Amino acid sequence: MTQAPEAILLVGGKGTRLRPLTVHTPKPMVPAAGVPFLAHQLARARAAGVEHIVLATSYLAEVFEPYFGDGSAFGLRLEYVTEREPLGTGGAIRNVAGHLESGPDDPVLIFNGDILTGLDINALVDTHVSTDADVSLHLSRVDDPRAFGLVPTDATGRVQAFLEKPQTPEEIVTDQINAGAYVFRRSVIDSIPDSRPVSVERETFPGLLDAGAHLQGMVDSTYWLDLGTPQAFVRGSADLVLGRAPSPAVPGRCGERLVMPTAEVAEDAKLTEGTVIGAGAVIGLGARISGSTVLDGAIVEQGAVIADSMVGAGARIGARTVLAGAVIGDGADVGADNELRDGVRVWCGAVLPDGAVRFSSDQ
Ligand code: GTP
Repeated sequence: MTQAPEAILLVGGKGTRLRPLTVHTPKPMVPAAGVPFLAHQLARARAAGVEHIVLATSYLAEVFEPYFGDGSAFGLRLEYVTEREPLGTGGAIRNVAGHLESGPDDPVLIFNGDILTGLDINALVDTHVSTDADVSLHLSRVDDPRAFGLVPTDATGRVQAFLEKPQTPEEIVTDQINAGAYVFRRSVIDSIPDSRPVSVERETFPGLLDAGAHLQGMVDSTYWLDLGTPQAFVRGSADLVLGRAPSPAVPGRCGERLVMPTAEVAEDAKLTEGTVIGAGAVIGLGARISGSTVLDGAIVEQGAVIADSMVGAGARIGARTVLAGAVIGDGADVGADNELRDGVRVWCGAVLPDGAVRFSSDQ
């Protein structure tokens, strides 16, 4: 087996699809299963033998270092490189090149900062080395590829094309999608244009293919989830708690629920399906919470019913209020007897009076 190389983690995106969770917190720092999501990725990379990681930061860059420091507490050597203007995924990779220690032909791992996956990192590196590729990509098989760009490969796994999201059934030529983890030959990173925004997905990969470079795919059907939307984020956090998604960083034993120390949960409250209750949160009598994340210091009052939802830090959910597929921003105050469903986003600090919103006609 090859020694795991150094890695770049892309953590500078604005995370617009995840708002309002990303208003005060960059997406990789939003807690999943009780710790910032990035902690899971770092722990998985460390477990694969990676020691040196460069974080490419941009949006809310200042919050990463106070939490992760120089990485020594996590068994890693971490460096932070902040873009003055967002450079996109490819520009961000090029921008950190000066911090890499690898030689021109060495492999460098690159991860999107919002993917939860069971990828065998060392198998991807082995694939890269054994096929002598310029770039190797983790390709995930998905049941419904309509929402993704497609990446067909030939019988040897060599990438044939990068196709836009399919518009018609005929355009679904494969179920393989770009899963957001790559190995680059170091010299390929140095060839990305510097000092302007570049998308690795839209510009670098198709350009390399046109120029005859060897792009290798490693296809699998392991756990894979893009945590870009609130629904996906809540799902991913629950899967970590339930043990469906693997991570050495889950603080506690996997099971139906994860209650962080200092949270107060009423004895008859029911917490199921991977629910997480953050530090200092208070859950009232008879509350029922399933498949949801309640962040630090939030208050859920008696009889509230919460499913597949995210409750932001310090938010309050009033008595008997029902949340289903809802996102409540940090510090929002939702009064009693509301009913919020189907992807509704309540902004940070917003105040909803008692009985203000219902989806059904009953009182
Ligand atoms: P949306 O705004 O919701 O699409 O999210 P996003 O900004 O995170 O974009 P996307 O999901 O496409 O980004 C994929 C990965 O690249 C994420 O880990 C982002 O943090 C990262 N990323 C995207 N744009 C930039 C950038 O300009 N600079 C850096 N350093 N990282 C980026």
